[in-house]
Amino acid sequence: MADQVLKVVDQRTKLAYDLPLFKGAIRSMDLRQIKTGPEDFGVVGYDPAFLNTAACQSSITFIDGDKGILRYRGYPIEQLAEKCSFLEVAYLILNGELPTEGQLENWVDDIKHHTMLHEKTKNFLESFNHDAHPMGMFISCVAALSTIYPESRNVLDPENRKLQIRRLIGKVPTIAAYTYRHSLGYPYVYPDNDLNYSENFMNMLWRMVEPKYRANPVLSRALEILFILHADHEQNCSANVMRAAGSSQADPYVSVAAAAAALSGPLHGGANEEVLKMLDEIGTKDRVPAYIEKVKAGHVKLMGFGHRVYKNYDPRARIIKWAADQVFVATGRNPKLDIAMELERVALEDEYFIKRKLYPNVDFYSGIIYQALGFNPNLFTVLFAIPRTVGWLAQWQEMLEDPEQKIARPRQIYTGYDARELVPIGKRVAQVAALAR
Ligand code: ACO
Repeated sequence: MADQVLKVVDQRTKLAYDLPLFKGAIRSMDLRQIKTGPEDFGVVGYDPAFLNTAACQSSITFIDGDKGILRYRGYPIEQLAEKCSFLEVAYLILNGELPTEGQLENWVDDIKHHTMLHEKTKNFLESFNHDAHPMGMFISCVAALSTIYPESRNVLDPENRKLQIRRLIGKVPTIAAYTYRHSLGYPYVYPDNDLNYSENFMNMLWRMVEPKYRANPVLSRALEILFILHADHEQNCSANVMRAAGSSQADPYVSVAAAAAALSGPLHGGANEEVLKMLDEIGTKDRVPAYIEKVKAGHVKLMGFGHRVYKNYDPRARIIKWAADQVFVATGRNPKLDIAMELERVALEDEYFIKRKLYPNVDFYSGIIYQALGFNPNLFTVLFAIPRTVGWLAQWQEMLEDPEQKIARPRQIYTGYDARELVPIGKRVAQVAALAR
């Protein structure tokens, strides 16, 4: 497997070690042989927040952060966004190859057979307050599916996995739409299998008394493109949670719920909602420079900017900007776009952002287009979770099929007390203990 060797000399013992390199990586377990004596545990890697640790081998998504490249299974994101439907891309991500016409027809048909929710889901949703955040409801409903499909615990059976994957992809738009209708107190709308994935989602969100919902084709295509852009992004925070939760052989519903919980944070998928709040706070273009000064002073972050991997430009942000132009022809221009473009212009000319290689990420423009499409900001992260379910499931499946993977369990560097004697409660002197503060 090794293509090169790294020679390491331990200055403590003067011993030299050959560490095999595979695709530029050493195995952290190879460090364990480096020790000062039999009592020594051996060297471990210390890497908080995984800045420089590959946790798996994966053939799903490729990112070159310096060049701004994103590919699913080798296909450039630009081509997939232009030429494919979301379910076609979902098939590619999960199966490794683009489907033929026949394969796609069967796949779409399969997904359509899993769009309905158990009627009890409605009762479950009723217990949430009308102003509950849709992401909290989404996470809870996805987890609750685990109780409806107990056979999903059999995660080592590939056929069973396939069924749960189809169910999840079919049901997440329905759950998302139900959370929205619940917030407004509207009756739930059942799926319409005559419609494609994004049209059906729009139908479940917005159909009122008309007998048939007809989506504006420009808007449904824009949503389809947004779904494609968000479908996977290799080992991001939520994919890592999906793999970690799934590594204990937890079922896919609770694992997807865990991944969605990770997505909901403002530093990850929750950023799209925060961008809109930020643009509202800025209000007008002339207030952009003052806001940038606040960011540089460290008082706030520029939401929708920066990325752990992209240090050039997030290619998804470029496609979203293009899709926004199409949407605005149909809906009228969202005035927030002007503030966002001014923010980008000022930031990209500023030394603070240039030095740190901070560029707009996918969330910078997605909120503006979601709003133009008619979505409330508190639904934005749910809109991210729907397509990302495909990526989470592909990562989960790959992890389960990888003979090298085991339960995910990192090590720590212990920095607490050495062993100490317990003092009886009557004799204790008050300490400023972290937990009791
Ligand atoms: N605004 C201002 N400064 C920033 C920003 C930002 N958005 N992002 C990073 N920085 C600064 C940091 O303060 C740090 O500065 P320093 O070197 O002076 O301390 C430097 O840039 C490096 O940043 P890190 O926090 O080390 O970068 P990291 O890779 O850990 O974080 C992250 C990446 C979380 C995306 C970060 O850029 C951020 O918080 N962005 C805003 C939230 C956001 O848009 N999240 C969505 C990400 S995309 C996605 O998940 C779909």
